[in-house]
Amino acid sequence: MAPRFWYSAGGADKPIKTKLRTHESARLTAKQELMTSQLRNFGQRISVAPMMDWTDRACRSFHRKLSTKALLYTEMVVADAVIHGHRDRLLAYPEHQHPVALQLGGSDPAKLAEATRVALGYGYDEINLNVGCPSDRVQSGTFGACLMQTPDLVARCVAAMKEAAAPDKKVLITVKCRLGVDDQNIETALDELADGCIDAGVDALWVHARKAWLKGLSPKENRDIPPLDYDRVYRLKARLKNMFVGINGGIANLDEAEQHLAYVDGVMIGRAAYHDCALLLDVDQRFYGSDAPLKTRHQVLREMYDEIENHLLQGGKMNHYTRHIIGLFHGQPGARTYRQILSTKAVQPGAGVGVIEEALAAMAAATDQLNRAEELA
Ligand SMILES: Cc1cc2nc3c(=O)[nH]c(=O)nc-3n(C[C@H](O)[C@H](O)[C@H](O)COP(=O)(O)O)c2cc1C
Repeated sequence: MAPRFWYSAGGADKPIKTKLRTHESARLTAKQELMTSQLRNFGQRISVAPMMDWTDRACRSFHRKLSTKALLYTEMVVADAVIHGHRDRLLAYPEHQHPVALQLGGSDPAKLAEATRVALGYGYDEINLNVGCPSDRVQSGTFGACLMQTPDLVARCVAAMKEAAAPDKKVLITVKCRLGVDDQNIETALDELADGCIDAGVDALWVHARKAWLKGLSPKENRDIPPLDYDRVYRLKARLKNMFVGINGGIANLDEAEQHLAYVDGVMIGRAAYHDCALLLDVDQRFYGSDAPLKTRHQVLREMYDEIENHLLQGGKMNHYTRHIIGLFHGQPGARTYRQILSTKAVQPGAGVGVIEEALAAMAAATDQLNRAEELA
């Protein structure tokens, strides 16, 4: 095979010396190995995936009440927006949300470096590069999943982000990718991407365990139709023993998460964590050794009231929060009543946290009624 050239952490746009590696285990710097073991031992075993329009600031505050430990991702923010947009609106978040990871979208190493420098000022625990999103909008900007086709460019982006992040000794630079795109061979495509990132100094790799099909599927279809291949991620991890490799895609509950953790270092949960958010309630006890008593759903909601009231005082709307908490009683008796009240009343003018209390009371009444009917039957 003709030699392929990669780019190293030596600088964002310096072509480098190392050839495509054929050896089994990628070379890691001592710092990467240390990071990896820290991540595996203490850190980001469970994370909530970046989700546009969903994992906004309000959502993350709510998820943080459900788990004090899980790593929470922002929605993807495009590097250009970070550089030119309203920074506080895009990047600010309350202190209690740590650990929190900012996901950036982009493919220009210089812009990603600039966005990383801006993000450092906001104290994120991790800055992640999106190499997995297949939407047309993202493709036209030539970033997201289509970057799977240009691993050398991804490596340059990572190198630039690492260099920009160097003044912050703690922040991690990570990548979230797919197995490949379109007709790529998932064995070589993923290995090439991973090895390039490792040479560039990446601290962790999160892999959505399916391909993205760039033509003909909507982003939503691209989260379901290309088949999942968890084994491919396990093989990546087996080859990269000292690199943090996390898995994502179709993980529905914590039992499944636990099974994956026998093979990989971390599990990222997206839709299940959003729609059935109560699953986050026992993450701390199950995965981080916490011996704090389990919180109830009611407790979590009431812990949100101060933040919601502050938001309302600043002119925010009640449904900025209620849209995220609507799934909290998923599968519980009375959940429908709770959802109905939140979705109709939280959008009314003047709505406040009283709407949540009303929904809880109506849910309790509906459950009582159901229980009485069952006793009589
Ligand atoms: C509404 C929505 C928005 C998403 N936005 C992003 C995004 O901004 N960045 C990203 O890397 N992935 C995004 N994803 C993909 C998720 O991070 C995740 O990879 C995908 O949903 C598969 O995981 P799951 O099966 O656990 O949901 C999004 C998914 C959803 C449902």
